[in-house]
Amino acid sequence: MTERAVLVEEVGKVFDGGVTALENVSLTIGAGEFVSLIGPSGCGKSTLLRIIADLEQPTSGAVSVFGLTARRARVEQKYGIAFQQAGLLDWRTVQSNVALPLELHKVPKRERADRVRELLDLVGLTDFAENFPTQLSGGMQQRVAIARALARTPGLLLMDEPFGALDEMTREKMQNDLLRIAEESSAAVVFVTHSIPEAVYLSDRVVVMSSRPGRVVDTLSIDSIDSFDADGDPRESAGFFAAITSVRDALHVSTIPSADVR
Ligand SMILES: Nc1ncnc2c1ncn2[C@@H]1O[C@H](COP(=O)(O)OP(=O)(O)OP(=O)(O)O)[C@@H](O)[C@H]1O
Ligand SMILES: [Mg+2]
Repeated sequence: MTERAVLVEEVGKVFDGGVTALENVSLTIGAGEFVSLIGPSGCGKSTLLRIIADLEQPTSGAVSVFGLTARRARVEQKYGIAFQQAGLLDWRTVQSNVALPLELHKVPKRERADRVRELLDLVGLTDFAENFPTQLSGGMQQRVAIARALARTPGLLLMDEPFGALDEMTREKMQNDLLRIAEESSAAVVFVTHSIPEAVYLSDRVVVMSSRPGRVVDTLSIDSIDSFDADGDPRESAGFFAAITSVRDALHVSTIPSADVR
């Protein structure tokens, strides 16, 4: 594994019909680094993530993932993805949705079953292993998608508002789990969110994007949670609120007044 998880070089994206979604976006994400993308609705966050995942082609510029082309990285399953839409296969049960990446990678059956059990436990869906996605709530479907993304403990996770559909307590739990998982597996994470506190809580760096066409207007380093100096919940520490204020200020400078930011 190289030092870099993702390298985005001067990427531009103009969609058919003429919408310029991204303009000259450059970004480096180190191995094991947690980076959030934040910016107003329609600024191209999902587009950027989809380009990194090779689900969309850039009009200009280039992307590499662990030194490979985006296509190669996709074929070799170098990353797990969890996007705004859970994207589950409705005809497969919860457990066989989670098992899919393992099947594709020819992981032996017994090992697969153990891993799926572990993952379902992690996302709190053990009792729903035999259910089908349509029998679950939106938040539960999202948790299945997250379990699936984690199945092969990838070195990179691409996540697009994965916790948007979750209630606040589940969301906090998933944030903590994600941090733990990312740390344990030394995975880099590229995480799109509209929530400033979420970005601050999770990230090593927060990348602030401008309204369309999306450009990177600021990158803020967030001190690690440990240095949020709280004995109790880091989310209640002074350092946490100070970091939130910095990101808010950067967003306000960089975006139109009606920016869709919570
Ligand atoms: N397939 C497509 N064809 C044409 N235009 C598109 C397509 N996908 C996205 N766009 C346009 O590109 C721009 C960026 O969209 P994108 O989904 O990346 O925004 P976003 O930052 O993820 O927004 P949100 O926060 O609402 O999810 C938007 O103006 C959108 O209309
Ligand atoms: Mg989006």
